[in-house]
Amino acid sequence: MKRPILAANWKMNNGPTAAKSFMDAFLAGYPPRDDRTIIIFPPAVALQVVAVAASRRNDVIVGAQNIHWAQKGAFTGEISAGMARDAGARIALVGHSERRHVFGETDAQSGKKCEAAAREGMAFMLCVGETLDQREAGETESVVLRQLREGLSRTPNLISADFLLAYEPVWAIGTGLTASSGDASAIHTLVRSELCDMIGTRSDEIPILYGGSVNAGNSAALLASPEVDGLLVGGASIESSSWLPIACTPVAYT
Ligand code: PGA
Repeated sequence: MKRPILAANWKMNNGPTAAKSFMDAFLAGYPPRDDRTIIIFPPAVALQVVAVAASRRNDVIVGAQNIHWAQKGAFTGEISAGMARDAGARIALVGHSERRHVFGETDAQSGKKCEAAAREGMAFMLCVGETLDQREAGETESVVLRQLREGLSRTPNLISADFLLAYEPVWAIGTGLTASSGDASAIHTLVRSELCDMIGTRSDEIPILYGGSVNAGNSAALLASPEVDGLLVGGASIESSSWLPIACTPVAYT
């Protein structure tokens, strides 16, 4: 994937009909580019529509917002990595803060989901980030490192696995509060150094994205940090009109 990586997490927005309209409008306004990668994470029911719409575009990748770790079975309401891949997803989001804090996903479960994605030949994007309480208690670093270590602990062949990381401070998600580029850089540096301990120099190849109240007004400043390899965008990615300027954010290093 080319850096910067601009990722749209639609959350529970844009079913198949709205997803089709979004993709028609977005792709019409976003001619192919070879200086960045776009990832769209639609809800599971719209995966196939988005994958078909993007099928001629190497610069636009489709991903699942969540997967279950089992290959199949009695898990009502869940989808497996293989099913997501069959619907066109090439990557799975794992451990998003809403999965952790609204649905109670544990570090151990995130680890099993990363393992499942890798087993199916899919890439994954593991999200880490502290809550406001944890930040105020001075626990940011320990929380982020724990989520990182446990999230990656079961992935086979981690050294060659296809994955990305996203730092998303929970207090910045959907709140209008954004980490300063200095704060984001400091955590990205911490994460990269831990990753270097885990997989050596290959850690340089792993993109680390920032997420949390990103919009067209702050995307350029966030991407100006050399430690920030991309952005994971929620609210501002739901409409093609607000997503397009973020996808086109100018960057100095390309
Ligand atoms: P937000 O969400 O951009 O609405 O803060 C980011 C995310 O949850 O990935």
